[in-house]
Amino acid sequence: MKVWPLVLNAIETKDVEEIYFFDFTDDANEACALAISRGNCQFIDGKPENFTVKIAIGTKDWIAVLSKNLMIEKAIADGKLTIEGDDKNLVKFEKYFSGDPEGTQLEIKNYSLTENEKEIRDGKWTKPRKVLGLIGSPRKKGATSFLYSILKQGLDESGCEVDTVYLPDLENNTCNGCFTCWEGKDKKCVHDDGVNELIHKMHEYDLMILATPVYADGLPGALKNYFDRTISILDPEFIIIDDHNRHPVRYPKMPHLVLLSPCGYSEMDNFHPMVEHVKEICKNMHLTYIGEILQSATWMMTIPNLQPLYASVFEAIKQAGKEIVSKGKIPEELTKKITKEIFSRGQILAIKNRASQ
Ligand SMILES: Cc1cc2nc3c(=O)[nH]c(=O)nc-3n(C[C@H](O)[C@H](O)[C@H](O)COP(=O)(O)O)c2cc1C
Repeated sequence: MKVWPLVLNAIETKDVEEIYFFDFTDDANEACALAISRGNCQFIDGKPENFTVKIAIGTKDWIAVLSKNLMIEKAIADGKLTIEGDDKNLVKFEKYFSGDPEGTQLEIKNYSLTENEKEIRDGKWTKPRKVLGLIGSPRKKGATSFLYSILKQGLDESGCEVDTVYLPDLENNTCNGCFTCWEGKDKKCVHDDGVNELIHKMHEYDLMILATPVYADGLPGALKNYFDRTISILDPEFIIIDDHNRHPVRYPKMPHLVLLSPCGYSEMDNFHPMVEHVKEICKNMHLTYIGEILQSATWMMTIPNLQPLYASVFEAIKQAGKEIVSKGKIPEELTKKITKEIFSRGQILAIKNRASQ
């Protein structure tokens, strides 16, 4: 019963003055009360001096009522629950103790929505100036870096100041799940490493390019660990955004995010799990997801002899960089040009398998 004051709905009870007296009939010494007074509730151990409603019930039956295994009406009809006072109040019990259904009763110290989130919701776009390119591939000279260098040209030509960080260059300890970043004295991650430093620098950027290969249908482990560690920019409280539990963020601004990714197979559906995952990460971490640039069988375009055939794709990726900066979106025609089939699946398969034998 002591938990009940914690789940008081302060809005529903703002004009309420009630004292619910619980007399647990299967234990003569067990009695308590919940005194509601205008949005506050106090637990009283033992019989209260006065009450508005007295509820007499066995402990087990009350647990059955609270766990929704016994309807109040049925308990009354079966004589398991008797009420003294205004029985209408008991019907309101559930409403009075419904907690904070809209997530609006809690005082938030930090931010429910960032500046960028608000802008996007208002249909506005401010040209990004500072860009963080985070490359999650362990291969510095691989397909991810190759695609990234093309996109970067578009960003550079649009006047952005781009900082490129290779995740493998940073010390990247795995998250212990210890919650020291939420519950510790200084609310800091126990790992004072390169990843922690970058996580707490992300807010200095207007835009982040997340460049990563598909590994096992998702993010490479090191990058997944990076995002695990980003909980240290959040606060532990729950808020509700778009009818979903989230956490407030400690910084007033977080960057927009564009996903740039190569994969090995030919089909575009190889990106689906990762794209969905990254979109969800963005919602949790208050990074505003702008769009994605995806290239299947990317190893093909890193073969120098084949590159002239991909010239229009390269140009479209560069152009996408400019569009992201100027409009905050990648137009559909550009996405079509970027994903245009240059080689068929059969051709890709034959090249791959001949080279592998
Ligand atoms: C461990 C590992 C797992 C991979 N898993 C997938 C996969 O699930 N689907 C896919 O299409 N490609 C997969 N690939 C291929 C890579 O996405 C592809 O080779 C990519 O271009 C690598 O980028 P990089 O050259 O920057 O390392 C995988 C590669 C590795 C090394």
